[in-house]
Amino acid sequence: MGPLAFFLDMHPALGDFRNDVIEGLAQDQKSLSPKYFYDERGSALFKQITEQPEYYPTQTEKKILLENAADIAAAPGPNAAVFEYGSGASEKIEWLLNGLDRPAAYVAMDISKDFLIEAASTFARNFDLPIAAVCADFHGHVHIPPNILPAPARWLGYFPGSTLGNMTPALAARFLRRAGETLGTGAQFLLGVDLEKDAHIINAAYNDEAGVTAAFNLNLLTRMERELGADIRIEDFEHYAFYNEEDWRLEMHLRAKKQTEIALDGRKFSFAAGETLHTENSHKYSINRLKALFAETPWRLDTVWTDENQWFAACLLSNN
Ligand code: TRP
Repeated sequence: MGPLAFFLDMHPALGDFRNDVIEGLAQDQKSLSPKYFYDERGSALFKQITEQPEYYPTQTEKKILLENAADIAAAPGPNAAVFEYGSGASEKIEWLLNGLDRPAAYVAMDISKDFLIEAASTFARNFDLPIAAVCADFHGHVHIPPNILPAPARWLGYFPGSTLGNMTPALAARFLRRAGETLGTGAQFLLGVDLEKDAHIINAAYNDEAGVTAAFNLNLLTRMERELGADIRIEDFEHYAFYNEEDWRLEMHLRAKKQTEIALDGRKFSFAAGETLHTENSHKYSINRLKALFAETPWRLDTVWTDENQWFAACLLSNN
């Protein structure tokens, strides 16, 4: 109940949209970083995606966490401090802080600074617990400043939403190794991961009937027009999302319905009919492939909680 214990700004590189678009469009397989999805409209559409009936990950994860809240919160023992990666509006944390035995602190980490300060400050006013915020990119190193917070019995990393799945397996392993360094020996990590399943279910989740995921994907083109002055016939493109069974990942693309081009800064990037701009991957894991991934990191899998269909997993890892 008070101000933030600290605010650490690691000045994450927000990226150069113009430069990244030009570089991405010049590649053989045209591609663009998913970080550009999240302008104001993109963030609002993303929230709507999570509310679509076909989009099972959010509802399934929530159900798993709430049904097993007592067991999960008991695992770290007393006086643990929570470090949340990509905390956003800090909407997925209350059940955990409420369930922990005398939590020592909560540190929210996110790349979006204004949003982070607002969410963490609101939290600090309502929770009787030291709250801190770190503005950083989870693809970089994060160092928790020592001696500001009361020393916790252990750190508990928290990374829900299957955001790990949006990284390639190589980047996911690097992320987990860095999290091991940030949180230290003896830490635990609570990770939400979407599991492998029938391709129809995955395909439906990313092709919702209401067209929200399509609008979210196509919003990238609107941003390119509005913010960069690109010349695009948006109606020539369509949302294209499919489960790639060889690489165990849902791929999201913007596909040209017919031959078209994007003009930007005097350059022209042509699309043949059917050619795509690759915008996101969402990897789906089996428990065995997760174990293989963790084997490349200091983390070991202690417990898996799942739903009755085994569509999603909450994994508790430890770094001993
Ligand atoms: N990580 C979640 C997933 O892959 C949420 C998400 C990230 C998402 N980017 C997305 C969902 C793009 C739909 C479209 O499912």
